Amino acid sequence: MVEQTLCIIKPDAVERNLIGKILQMIEGADLKIKALKMLHLNKKQAEGFYEVHKEKPFFDSLTNYMSSGPIVVAVLEGEDAIKRYRELMGATNPKEAKQGTIRNQFALDVEKNSVHGSDSPENAVKEIAYFFDKLEVL
Ligand code: CMP
Repeated sequence: MVEQTLCIIKPDAVERNLIGKILQMIEGADLKIKALKMLHLNKKQAEGFYEVHKEKPFFDSLTNYMSSGPIVVAVLEGEDAIKRYRELMGATNPKEAKQGTIRNQFALDVEKNSVHGSDSPENAVKEIAYFFDKLEVL
């Protein structure tokens, strides 16, 4: 089934000039970029995006980090896109991410893990709508 998923290139990766390399890996994996923009979240906006994690011990640190610098958000589309993009990202903890994945190559640690991807069709719809207006997604 053709799906859309939300991708975030996080502050650690933008800071290290990795936007191009990460987008190249995404396009190389046959995922189509349907929307793309750069923004700098404030703390409240980061808290809103990660609301599902608000009870987690890392919530404050995560939302400080996600509002610490610019990010790139994108909508990716393709057959089975949610699962395929998660495979391309690799495990949340880069120590567990397989060779050839984005996090294996670029992530610094479990928090500064370079990229985010939606984990289910329901969350993909919510996450895309958090950043993009209907008219912005091609
Ligand atoms: P992400 O896929 O964006 O989903 C939630 C984020 O929380 C995750 O990537 C990491 O950036 C961060 N995260 C997950 N687990 C931990 C953890 N144990 N400690 C700190 N940050 C975490």
